[in-house]
Amino acid sequence: MSDSDRFGLKGRTALITGAGGGLGRQHALLFAKHGANVVVNDLGGSTDGTGAGSEMADQVVEEIKAGGGNAVANYDSVATMEGGQNMIKTAIDNFGSIDIVVNNAGILRDISFMKQEEKDWDLVFAVHVKGAFCVTKAAWPHMRENGYGRVIMTSSASGIYGNFGQTNYSAAKMALVGLGQTLALEGEKYNIRTNVIAPVAISRMTESIMPPNVHDMIKPEFVSPLVVYLCSDGIDVNGEVFEVGAGAFSRLEWIRAKGLTIKPGDGDITTESIADGWAAVNDMTGADTVRSIGESTQATLAHIMS
Ligand SMILES: NC(=O)c1ccc[n+]([C@@H]2O[C@H](COP(=O)([O-])OP(=O)(O)OC[C@H]3O[C@@H](n4cnc5c(N)ncnc54)[C@H](O)[C@@H]3O)[C@@H](O)[C@H]2O)c1
Repeated sequence: MSDSDRFGLKGRTALITGAGGGLGRQHALLFAKHGANVVVNDLGGSTDGTGAGSEMADQVVEEIKAGGGNAVANYDSVATMEGGQNMIKTAIDNFGSIDIVVNNAGILRDISFMKQEEKDWDLVFAVHVKGAFCVTKAAWPHMRENGYGRVIMTSSASGIYGNFGQTNYSAAKMALVGLGQTLALEGEKYNIRTNVIAPVAISRMTESIMPPNVHDMIKPEFVSPLVVYLCSDGIDVNGEVFEVGAGAFSRLEWIRAKGLTIKPGDGDITTESIADGWAAVNDMTGADTVRSIGESTQATLAHIMS
């Protein structure tokens, strides 16, 4: 365990969902190393969301304890309200508070949209989206009451950019961006900070699609330091999205073309005018960043205000 407490994590309690393996396990180990008490949640099933077991979470708890840290296991599914409440109860019963929630649990049901069945859609949404809802919802009142909270959503480049064969997963992962950004607004005045990561790492989820020669360069432990940093005490980062992996750390931002503007009354707003102005719609020269719904609406309406 590290001696200094530069990040104010000593005595804080962090719940990491899906922490029995992959990224979650590394997050849990690093939080413990920084002196946080850790609730290691994992359902213990397989990548496609089937099965369950206690071994995965237990092993990580053992590992943390062997290193002199504090940890307790929880085996609930994130996908139920009871599961979320149990995790928070586990945190409070064992450590007295819940300060940090890292929504990390996830599954895959990759299949082309043509062949996708309702159950593939529902299960992916249940774990990623409803799961983040159930767990964060259970923690939220405690964080508000304590005037302190740090929340992470785990999104994916698949959601941000789309990925063949992953309609369910992409849609779920982009939903987490929306959830995280709105929670950032709602939690701001209570000192609850919510941020989103889109990681790249080798895990059982990705080992078959990542070339073996880069496996050593994309270890999950290269992602966890950002997660811990975003959950540290003095941090004032809120509502941001970061791509992270292989030692690369970058904030993402939306940009908006200056675009085609036709002031109603001054010109006709027709399909023809869009076709004729298509180059302007797409011209990203001098594009502006947009950081809030207010800025977005203002930019859309600017030409009618002048
Ligand atoms: N590895 C990557 O490159 C990558 C890229 C983008 C996003 N992600 C996301 O990162 C997160 C972690 O993935 P990983 O790569 O470490 O894979 P992983 O399979 O090793 O980890 C996911 C963990 O979640 C657990 N889990 C699954 N369903 C659960 C449930 N209902 N309740 C509680 N636990 C459950 C699993 O048992 C597993 O331990 C996921 O949300 C994944 O979508 C990973």
